[in-house]
Amino acid sequence: MTTTHTHTRPHRRSLWPAPEGDAVLVIDQRLLPHQLVVERLASVAAVRTAITDMCVRGAPLIGAAAAYGMALQCRLAADDASLRATQAWLDSARPTAVNLAWATQRVLQALLPLPVAARPVAAWQLAAALADEDVATNAAIGQHGLVLLQALAARHPGRPLNLLTHCNAGALATVDWGTALAPVYAAQAVGLAVHVWVDETRPRNQGASLTAWELGQQGVAHTVVADNTGGHLMQHGQVDVVIVGADRVTARGDVCNKIGTYLKALAAHDNGVPFYVALPLSTLDRTVHDGVAQIPIEHRSPREVTHITGRNAQGGLTEVQLVPDGSPALNPAFDVTPARLVTGLITERGVIAATASALAATA
Ligand code: MRU
Repeated sequence: MTTTHTHTRPHRRSLWPAPEGDAVLVIDQRLLPHQLVVERLASVAAVRTAITDMCVRGAPLIGAAAAYGMALQCRLAADDASLRATQAWLDSARPTAVNLAWATQRVLQALLPLPVAARPVAAWQLAAALADEDVATNAAIGQHGLVLLQALAARHPGRPLNLLTHCNAGALATVDWGTALAPVYAAQAVGLAVHVWVDETRPRNQGASLTAWELGQQGVAHTVVADNTGGHLMQHGQVDVVIVGADRVTARGDVCNKIGTYLKALAAHDNGVPFYVALPLSTLDRTVHDGVAQIPIEHRSPREVTHITGRNAQGGLTEVQLVPDGSPALNPAFDVTPARLVTGLITERGVIAATASALAATA
């Protein structure tokens, strides 16, 4: 693996402010697991491009990055109209994960009452506070999830608990800890043995490249499986629990997450395997109810389906074509799992039912 450490990375953080205070630093997730490179984002344009190109990705992380994008732009123009234009531009970078708009709205709301001259410093402090808040939120999700894992493990004494996850909802998808993987790290901290089945997560392979990398870095036992494997494992009693993250959860508990999540939920339901979704409450969109009908699903380049990049024998990265010349491809990036398939929502305030009444009570 190539490692470029131009800046010291705080322990396991995916995003942190440059010591000089003039940029935000992120791990370039397009290059993992083969190269660990830190990118320096010094303008709102650089932040937006990092989000659209998936240098930074994962719902909570793009929210934190966008908050820094607002703060960087604030130094150039901090009047109301400029702030609103920057917010709209950042929000349009990726349409599905609601944390992005949640973060820019929080920054905007905090800045508008302030004198224009005070806004740049306040915006930077606010972005840092949002990032720190994400870490604390995810740590709390980890503790609530740990209680669930301990209860499940008690049913299977003498062997590790087998957990299946999809995509990457780990530390890399957040500022730290992750959402779906936070309970895994909490379990590791108390010595509870957990083995993670890692869905590869075609087409961008966030499981194979990111989740496998971060679990390996943390010393967590894991096995990468092709996306089609989960149902088979469940039929054979090899999955005790599924935990995934979310990009948007509706007021009635429908869960929008990485494409393929829905199929895992169906298989879990058919096999009596508990299916949990871990999320900060900032992922909850109280304005939408029917996730299938109302959540905008990002469609990405067909090239992500038709081509794949990996490390070649010389150690460099190579892209190869998978499909015949001329075959069209379709690439919806997310799907919606209906609330009826969700066993529970692991939030920073505890585990709650995926129902309208339970979610309304969190307001
Ligand atoms: O397209 P991505 O890689 O940004 O999608 C990420 C996911 O689907 C995650 O599961 C979700 O954002 C939750 S991250 C804690």
